[in-house]
Amino acid sequence: MSYDLISALGEASADLGDMLDKILPRPDGQIEERLFEAMRYSTMGEGKRLRPFLVMASSALFKVSRTSALRVAAAIEMVHTYSLIHDDLPAMDNDDLRRGKPSCHKQFDEATAILAGDALLTQAFEVLADEETHPDPRVCTQLVRAMARAAGPYGMVGGQMIDLAGEGKSLSETQVTQLHLLKTGRIFAFACEAGAILGKAPNTMRMGLRAYAHDMGLAFQIKDDLLDVEASSDDLGKTAGKDQEQAKSTYVKLLGLEQARKQAQMLCDQAIRHLDAFDNEAEPLRAVARFVIDRKR
Ligand code: IPE
Ligand code: IPE
Ligand code: MG
Ligand code: MG
Ligand code: MG
Repeated sequence: MSYDLISALGEASADLGDMLDKILPRPDGQIEERLFEAMRYSTMGEGKRLRPFLVMASSALFKVSRTSALRVAAAIEMVHTYSLIHDDLPAMDNDDLRRGKPSCHKQFDEATAILAGDALLTQAFEVLADEETHPDPRVCTQLVRAMARAAGPYGMVGGQMIDLAGEGKSLSETQVTQLHLLKTGRIFAFACEAGAILGKAPNTMRMGLRAYAHDMGLAFQIKDDLLDVEASSDDLGKTAGKDQEQAKSTYVKLLGLEQARKQAQMLCDQAIRHLDAFDNEAEPLRAVARFVIDRKR
């Protein structure tokens, strides 16, 4: 029987929801409860939860305990959600819709949205560093360092800066690839490597995962750019057509729809080939690569 990714994503998402509910601060009449409400509002929304799934799938390759994997999965979803809250702010993409509902600053206010993002980012590192995540402090340190590297100036935040600096400009293909790799690819790569870190996997195994994540992450962002042109806001749960409106540098702008589609397909095939060293146990990762370019939102 072929692997059922949609069911697996649903199950992982339910478990992740329970873990996030345990981790996130609970509003309970405190003077700062609005912050806690905003953190929960954005994190508990209708996200695809693909990065957490990749943590679970890579952890399964190395027989990591479910609690460890779920805690790292929660931390990565917290960082990702922070990036979306800030990405939607008027100072950045100025987007009113996210995950099918008003974005955080619309539902609450800008200051609360900034603080909710800050709080999710900061608390994610507390989760990674906690001994409940892994009993070996060296493993926790590696997780903290890898996530910081993926999310910081050499990763997502750096990529967001290139994205903003590239508005209204004609970036080269190399520059757009760098933009995608940093803004999106590095966090995906961390998600795939997290299982290897938790399971103390040998370097050779990590190399394959890293190469897979590199190509799959690029394909993911090319598809995000394609969906921005081809899908409706209703289907996406976020405003369609934003990239052209804001003159963003995307693969679609650079190559046109058809070539961008071909590029995404080529990267998906290449990503799957990088998993040749693994057998059936890597089927979830292969299915993710295919899902990334077939998805409708
Ligand atoms: C959107 O990511 C932001 C990008 C990096 C393109 P997702 O498409 O994974 O968003 P959610 O988590 O499903 O809402
Ligand atoms: C944002 O990229 C990626 C982040 C790091 C948040 P986009 O601006 O293309 O994401 P969407 O399309 O708003 O989800
Ligand atoms: Mg953006
Ligand atoms: Mg955006
Ligand atoms: Mg986009």
